[in-house]
Amino acid sequence: MSLSGVLAILLLLIPTYFLFAKWRKHTYPLPPGPKGWPIIGNALDIPLESMSPVYASWAKRYDSGIVSASALGKTIVVIDSYEVAIELLDRRSAKYSDRPISIMAGELMGWNYMLPLMPYSERWKGHRKRLVQFFRPTTDSTDGNFVHTPRVYEFVHRLVLDISETPNEFFELVRHMVGGLSLSLTYGLPIQRRNDPLVTFADSMARILPDESIPGKHLVEAFPFLKYLPSWFPGAGFKRYASSVRWMSSDFKTRPYEQAIEAFGTEGAQPCFVSDSLSSIDTQETSADIAEIQDVAAAIFATTADTTTHSILSFIFALATHPEVRKKIQAELDSVLTDESGALRLPTLEDQERLPRLTAAVMESQRWAPVAPIGVPHVTTEDDIFEGYFIPKGAVIVPNQWSMLNNEKEYGPTPYCFNPDRFLKSIGSGADVQINPFIRHPNTIAFGFGRRVCPGLQIAETTLWLAAASLVTLFEFETPLSEKANYIGSDGKVDPAFNPGFICHPLRYTCDFKVRSPKAASLLAEMGLVL
Ligand code: HEM
Repeated sequence: MSLSGVLAILLLLIPTYFLFAKWRKHTYPLPPGPKGWPIIGNALDIPLESMSPVYASWAKRYDSGIVSASALGKTIVVIDSYEVAIELLDRRSAKYSDRPISIMAGELMGWNYMLPLMPYSERWKGHRKRLVQFFRPTTDSTDGNFVHTPRVYEFVHRLVLDISETPNEFFELVRHMVGGLSLSLTYGLPIQRRNDPLVTFADSMARILPDESIPGKHLVEAFPFLKYLPSWFPGAGFKRYASSVRWMSSDFKTRPYEQAIEAFGTEGAQPCFVSDSLSSIDTQETSADIAEIQDVAAAIFATTADTTTHSILSFIFALATHPEVRKKIQAELDSVLTDESGALRLPTLEDQERLPRLTAAVMESQRWAPVAPIGVPHVTTEDDIFEGYFIPKGAVIVPNQWSMLNNEKEYGPTPYCFNPDRFLKSIGSGADVQINPFIRHPNTIAFGFGRRVCPGLQIAETTLWLAAASLVTLFEFETPLSEKANYIGSDGKVDPAFNPGFICHPLRYTCDFKVRSPKAASLLAEMGLVL
């Protein structure tokens, strides 16, 4: 056959192949899921709060690690199994790393410069690279560029001291400590021990973002054309509200940044993300660089404040409602932290290996009360086929992290109960234990997956562990049984909907903090002289 004949056949075959491939794709069904209604699909089945248990019940009903629903033309794919999450969100991350467009919080209220909301794009890559560089894991905390670990010690030590002075304020104090640490790491500004005005300002602004991002809260997310309504139009109150608070998204990033620039070089200002980033701009700084640094700095505070605060508050709640677990951990801490003269010292990160019971309790609190039960949704940028199911481009992918963390096959029976022993194994013949490396670490799930995995994992883990260790070393703390009953059933099951919404946590609870012993009291007195 002549060359032109071969070319002609190829020209015919190639489009036919692609047409056939496309046709074949569409013969694959969507993952199983509840039957929908015409036009609205499953809009009435999709839960607006406490989503995780409902989605988990679908996975059980269809006996599948992946289920789907559709609402108003959108496909929602819920991943219930860790293996499926790794296959799709991690191994196939090139297709699974976009985000849903946020119209209310992102476009109308102006928060779309926030990294977690950004579409998968060159802009996102630039922002993420900056953040990851600053928070990249390091074992050498003395390295000048890595100010993180010493700063975590400083803020955690202030927290325990403050709790010893005003124990009833522990809720606010934990929030203030996390906010202060985050602002200090980001902007290097000195932070007041209590009621720092910048922490209060940033905290009140940052809470708006998760609140306004609750799925189903705003009709405009389902019907994007509504954003074109004029503000005066009846029913367009959401637009009037959005423009009345739009200044917040802008002030949130400019106010602390400007204060940081003013403070550089003055007494009390410390190395931080902003100083680090500005010094790494090799050529002349451009306005694009400055804008990017401002955006990323704001994202650090917004993503740290609620998540890390609630992970610490959930840990406290877990131990305040499980005194038998607390006592065992305190015995472990006492044996490691008491020296020959009988004096107690504070725990350090280097003690982790020798404190398996404490570490197991921290892991268990992340598993039992995950801060982000449905993670942060991803979106597909291409059609895909997975195990015979069709996953269309533009599908919203929801990783049901709560369900993965409650998997009986991984974590044993009664996963709803707080039981740190599930992460431990005995060694030798005595009561000695160590972390069982064969039980999946909850942070491989709780911090998300693939290219969008949480870049703050290391700093969050360090802060949580150190705060947990220091609090249990120094205090007895207990929540009254009547309050425990608000969240935990008589069978030990925790209510998975501590607080319905994106970020899950126990609502305000009381906890009776008391300094544990005379040794703990003298340790606190010594700290009071230094801090
Ligand atoms: C206990 C504390 C925390 C938890 C449980 C948590 C959890 C998560 C989860 C589940 C995601 C979504 C991952 C995905 O899309 O699959 C995420 C994203 C993110 N987290 Fe965290 N996080 C915590 C603390 C932090 C801290 C301290 C920082 C600050 C550096 C941070 C910064 C971010 C950012 C910037 C994103 C967006 C990443 C992107 O979209 O590319 N997080 N986090």
